[in-house]
Amino acid sequence: MPSALDIVVLISGNGSNLQAIIDAIKTHQVHGSIRAVISNRADAKGLQRARNAGINAETLNHKDYSSRESFDLALQQLIDSYNPGLVVLAGFMRILSDDFVDHYDGRLFNIHPSLLPEFKGLNTHQRVLDANCAEHGASVHFVNSELDSGALVLQAVIKVNSNDNAETLAQRIHQQEHIIYPMAINWFAEGRLTYKNSQALLDNKLIAAPPQWKNKTLHIQDI
Ligand code: GAR
Repeated sequence: MPSALDIVVLISGNGSNLQAIIDAIKTHQVHGSIRAVISNRADAKGLQRARNAGINAETLNHKDYSSRESFDLALQQLIDSYNPGLVVLAGFMRILSDDFVDHYDGRLFNIHPSLLPEFKGLNTHQRVLDANCAEHGASVHFVNSELDSGALVLQAVIKVNSNDNAETLAQRIHQQEHIIYPMAINWFAEGRLTYKNSQALLDNKLIAAPPQWKNKTLHIQDI
């Protein structure tokens, strides 16, 4: 078993995904250790979750910087002071500059509330409803320099019910995110999930279609 993966988590708000990762580490479902949680907003609830768990909680306010690049460079320096093997975006609502993304190539994860590549960007739940989709979901992916893009790792899929609204969907998607994000992070921690030439591999096999967590089962199709 390799030594525990050092992780830095970036947040902007509630941090329920952060909490799921903290809990999964505590119950040994993720073989890792969160070295720091960094927020671009001082009032992010996730910072308190980090403190409650005895994790370093840092704020770096983007408003204190004159450009995206200067903020991202300061963020990078702060992250690197913790020397992480993986940087996890968990509701970090900032567009990242190319240099930042390149610096963490292959060790930067994001979770997004849609079945990517569908519904990149904001307000995904309402947009899924407006488009009359039968299914919705969440995706874990390696980050590249395009918004909500990069090699897909794992998705959760739910059915959209006729009585769903944006709030009910958000709630059910969150529940799924709390399952698949720790799962994917642990694959990476155990060395099962790797990244080569901008592509994700699971157990040395290229992920062509991401595994899907659906009806409490992991469906592995086209790996
Ligand atoms: C999550 O639903 C995550 O998928 C989304 O923000 C929420 C954060 O919730 N991220 C994005 O939309 C990124 N494009 P949390 O703060 O409770 O973990």
